[in-house]
Amino acid sequence: MKLAILGPLSRNYEEIRLLEEATKYFDGVSYFPIPQVVVELEGEEFKISHKNKNLLDYDVILPRMPRSYKTFGTTLLHFLSKAGKPLPIEPWAVTASHNKFLTLTLLREAGIPVPGTHLALKRAVLEDVLESMPYPVVLKLLYGSMGVGVMFADSKQSAVSIIDAMQRFNEPVIVERFVPPGNEDIRAYVIGGKVVASMKRVAKEDERRANIGMGGEGHVYELTAEEKHLALKSAKIVGTKICGVDIMPGPEGPVVIETNVNAQFKGIEKATKKNIAGNILKFLSGV
Ligand SMILES: Nc1ncnc2c1ncn2[C@@H]1O[C@H](COP(=O)(O)OP(=O)(O)O)[C@@H](O)[C@H]1O
Ligand SMILES: [Mg+2]
Repeated sequence: MKLAILGPLSRNYEEIRLLEEATKYFDGVSYFPIPQVVVELEGEEFKISHKNKNLLDYDVILPRMPRSYKTFGTTLLHFLSKAGKPLPIEPWAVTASHNKFLTLTLLREAGIPVPGTHLALKRAVLEDVLESMPYPVVLKLLYGSMGVGVMFADSKQSAVSIIDAMQRFNEPVIVERFVPPGNEDIRAYVIGGKVVASMKRVAKEDERRANIGMGGEGHVYELTAEEKHLALKSAKIVGTKICGVDIMPGPEGPVVIETNVNAQFKGIEKATKKNIAGNILKFLSGV
């Protein structure tokens, strides 16, 4: 069986590890950099090509879809799906998972506990929300990752000034309830209906965001039965079989704060000594 990885131009730790592990499970592996592919739908031609290779000639396709490629990437996945290629990530999952508000909407609809959240474009319409929310509140960009785009306001005054700045860039703003204690979260890595690794991330001193990229520290953590159930259900709801689920241990029980369709795994491989790349390839090869 031949595998193609459809991913970003610059190969990060994840793409390098996946290519490395792929040779153990597949007879051949090619890398298709998303910005260098051409989609062709002309007469008899129906292909996604990069140099002389056609993505449709591969048995298994692994998409790695960063936020910057969400529109083009979703289109590529729709095209592949129409061509009958089984995908570990549903085409719509790229849109759903990169949009934090849409993610929470889908999860909430499925009965998964999520923090109370609001979305608006203008500060003027958020006046009542900002008046009634308990502080601190969490402000988020609709599209953000690795902690960039998540802000905390300890008072209405701070919230207003942050939202004013966002409004200047015409960015929608998410106003979310703060889940205490607020400086730690849980990352569950779901592959093919199983949690293959989980860790607790603790934010560094003077920081509330627990992301590893923000200096957070990952520690091995065994999920409770409830957290495991939430992680598996969340991945399913957002349409991806390879998913990083972020959970916060709230005072009234765990809440899911986001799902990651393109979850990095350097931090979790290091913290848990689990082979995430190998697990992804193993799952894709059907072994
Ligand atoms: N509602 C919340 N209450 C408290 N802390 C939060 C909340 N939402 C996010 N955080 C903190 O900010 C971090 C990043 O938030 P997240 O929504 O996962 O965005 P990103 O995509 O940037 O990782 C989380 O890991 C957590 O530490
Ligand atoms: Mg996160």
